[in-house]
Amino acid sequence: PIYTDYFFDEPAYNTHDGGYVPLEVADAPEMALRIPPLLKPDKETATDTYYTVEAQAGETQLLPGKKTKTWGYNTSLLSQTLVFAKGKTMHIDLKNSLPELTTFHWHGLNVPGPYTDGGCHAPVYPGETKHIDFTVDQPAATLWLHAHPCPSTAEQVWHGLAGMVLVTDDQEAELPFPRNYGVDDIPLVLQDRRFHEDNQWDYNQDYDPDGVQGPTAMINGTINPYFDVTTQRLRLRILDGANRREWRLHFSNDLPFTQVASDGGVMPEPVKFTHLMLTCAERAEIIVDFGSVKPGETVTLYSDDTPLVKFRIHDYQREDVTLPDHLVDIPDPEVTPNMPVRKVVMDGMDEYVMIDGKKFNMQRIDARQQVGNVELWDVKNNNKTDSGMVHPFHMHGTQFLVVSRNGKAPYPNERGYKDTVGVNPGETVRIKVRFDKPGVFMYHCHIIEHEDGGMMAQIEAYDPAHPKTYKLMDMDTL
Ligand code: C2O
Ligand code: CU
Ligand code: CU
Repeated sequence: PIYTDYFFDEPAYNTHDGGYVPLEVADAPEMALRIPPLLKPDKETATDTYYTVEAQAGETQLLPGKKTKTWGYNTSLLSQTLVFAKGKTMHIDLKNSLPELTTFHWHGLNVPGPYTDGGCHAPVYPGETKHIDFTVDQPAATLWLHAHPCPSTAEQVWHGLAGMVLVTDDQEAELPFPRNYGVDDIPLVLQDRRFHEDNQWDYNQDYDPDGVQGPTAMINGTINPYFDVTTQRLRLRILDGANRREWRLHFSNDLPFTQVASDGGVMPEPVKFTHLMLTCAERAEIIVDFGSVKPGETVTLYSDDTPLVKFRIHDYQREDVTLPDHLVDIPDPEVTPNMPVRKVVMDGMDEYVMIDGKKFNMQRIDARQQVGNVELWDVKNNNKTDSGMVHPFHMHGTQFLVVSRNGKAPYPNERGYKDTVGVNPGETVRIKVRFDKPGVFMYHCHIIEHEDGGMMAQIEAYDPAHPKTYKLMDMDTL
């Protein structure tokens, strides 16, 4: 089948928010879509890769006229793309050249917490360089890197601190997917911004506790982008990198596309769509086949009614590829016997957001789960069904399986591993969670202002054979 709806509850779309900011096409010329370069390792051996990731301030030409003051990793805005090959050990210098404290969070990466994970307990102070090492042991996936200092994650991401991280492995490499980076394998970081006087961003002026939005779509740090397509098929690695905005994606003429991977990697089965909604921090890898489009034509990617990227189709070599019905086997571990179902409740909107009736406290561990145990979590969105919003629930330190939505089957593209799942108002999403690495890990709503506003908690994944203590930061010491 080809699915033609967005699945999420229409009354909960962000378009119904009092503070919704509709997208508008910027009054600016079209520009070639920026493709973030691949970050060059400092050194590479058969088993080890060494990177330096530097958070830095700069300026970026986004609109005609004055450049915009922006932040980025190894570039002025967003990031160069990091590649982590499965099985290899990464050694990363984290350098902070910004005027304030930041952290480097590897969203979706299975590494120990809380320091390597880079949540709020892993500050890197201005002028400082910290070092992390870890071995990549998860399947190929599209992950991302973003700042995570509490409670200014949202503001730092708005400044530009976000980038793509691609995990590669041998299994994915055998699948008939496009993988020529920058040619037919393209990252798409979807964000929105408001430009003020002299083309500058002003986070505080635009502040909204339900999530900051702007009317201008910014794709890979490009306004009004086009991309020159030179192959029949294109793989788009789409990330909702916005603070608040949901993207309801569809192509002109409802051109169908196939989702092959979600947050945690390749899905067991490909899923065909004409429409796809992403909530904050979710990723979808889709393959678009332009075989029905003639060279010279343009196919536009929209969110609701606003064009995001124009794909200009050029001559391409005919290459009809049918994807297999089954892509990969994924483990579906048995739930550990006699474990009660864990309950998590996301409550409130605006300043009143909480988890389980509490606001986030960096010093408080809210839950504990043994490393290796497989447990069911019931994640509930307590908002009213007629006036609430979709809260994207994200967990650090694990990729989980979506078991059900209000007892019913999850959406067709939720059959693979995920680290973020949108929960509709009044809905309970049951997920299956296992931690493979010990640590203190955050779980939270990924509307970043909700996270900063306290809709966040933390769990210790512990190994009884190797008890650990952690130095947890305090808001006051930041
Ligand atoms: Cu995308 Cu707590 O992170
Ligand atoms: Cu994360
Ligand atoms: Cu939320």
